[in-house]
Amino acid sequence: MNILLLGSGGREHAIAWKIAQSPKVNNLYIAPGNAGTALVGNNINIKADDFAAVKDFVLANHINMVVVGPEDPLVKGVYDFFKKDAALAAVPVIGPSKEGAQLEGSKDFAKAFMIRHNIPTARYKSISAANLEEGYAFLESLQAPYVLKADGLAAGKGVLIIDSLEEAKAELGNMLEGMFGDASKTVVIEEFLDGIECSVFVMTDGKDYKVLPVAKDYKRIGEGNTGLNTGGMGAVSPVPFADDVFMAKVEERIIRPTIEGLKAEHIDYKGFVFLGLINVKGEPMVIEYNCRMGDPETEVVMLRIQSDLVDLLEGVANGDLAGRTLVHDPRAAVTVMLVSGGYPEAYEKGKVISGLDKVSSENIIFHAGTVAADGKILTSGGRVIAVSSYGTDKEEALAKSFAGANRIDFDKKYFRKDIGFDL
Ligand code: AMP
Ligand code: GLY
Repeated sequence: MNILLLGSGGREHAIAWKIAQSPKVNNLYIAPGNAGTALVGNNINIKADDFAAVKDFVLANHINMVVVGPEDPLVKGVYDFFKKDAALAAVPVIGPSKEGAQLEGSKDFAKAFMIRHNIPTARYKSISAANLEEGYAFLESLQAPYVLKADGLAAGKGVLIIDSLEEAKAELGNMLEGMFGDASKTVVIEEFLDGIECSVFVMTDGKDYKVLPVAKDYKRIGEGNTGLNTGGMGAVSPVPFADDVFMAKVEERIIRPTIEGLKAEHIDYKGFVFLGLINVKGEPMVIEYNCRMGDPETEVVMLRIQSDLVDLLEGVANGDLAGRTLVHDPRAAVTVMLVSGGYPEAYEKGKVISGLDKVSSENIIFHAGTVAADGKILTSGGRVIAVSSYGTDKEEALAKSFAGANRIDFDKKYFRKDIGFDL
């Protein structure tokens, strides 16, 4: 079959790497891809949210399946675009409908969904300019720190965690006045949950589901989980505290009610559900839903799927996922992200990347923000390269990834040397 993958980051390189291993694939295209995806498939110069151009390409190249990497095209309705177009309707899109993508696209929608289905999550209140006073009163009823979330997509920056009540009230006002544009016209105020987080990924065909290997990502720029939030600086899988007992609770209290809830509400959802969970004294609670795989978690999760990913994706598309096999690799997998100096604030691009030919065959390199130009590979983003490795345990895997991270170089390269420190 011919597959088109939308997106251009490390997540997409990892998915492309795994898809390319499937004997079921004839041609793999990535739109727009990066210098790494070009090593495992064919990049095409189409933006992931240019649906008209995607349509032309799909029809001209006999694409049999479209896999959506990032949330943007999903929240903009790429699934519905295909379903409503007579020429495209038979081509499955792996990813939820626009309504399903609201689990990520609107925190208010996600919280209300969880309440309706009795899924454990932090207490909250949704506030807009019209009920600002209620927002102040709710903040006063909570204990510090205070969690304020922009309702809409804000490129991972829309969450503020604030120690003082006065400052929280002021920031609530600032958010409603457009601190994150339209995304913060509604703000979700949440009770703060204290615990350790992990990322659980579920594949669903809308009826059944399979749970992928659990991962933990490291979001802060600085060692010891300090400094600004980033897209993610590294990831580890498996996660020791996500043991059988914890995961049984996750399935019973969170995964099943989520899939059942989508079904009961007739929300079309054939794709990945990303559960951002927090372990509060052994009890899992949902911090957030995303409607796609995580980045950089995918750069470890794909290593830990032994089965043919394309077979599983076919199961999602055909509605027969229950009959497909998902075997987890027993080894540990880690990834360490090399980023541009200055990230997640201002940083430079266009730096020549050297040493990619010097890494050991034990490293699996996933490009996040790179472009090929004049026979060179240049940086083109804040997150540049993810260095993934297997090991019998995370320490062995990390030693390999750090060795690889030291061999690759570009001006102002930075990476965290403490990935996995808290597990
Ligand atoms: P989100 O975009 O909702 O995942 O929030 C970003 C990050 O903020 C999460 O990964 C958590 O580290 C933190 N966070 C969000 N909500 C809460 C909460 N209710 N309690 C504690 N930390 C939270
Ligand atoms: N690593 C977190 C995310 O992809 O949103």
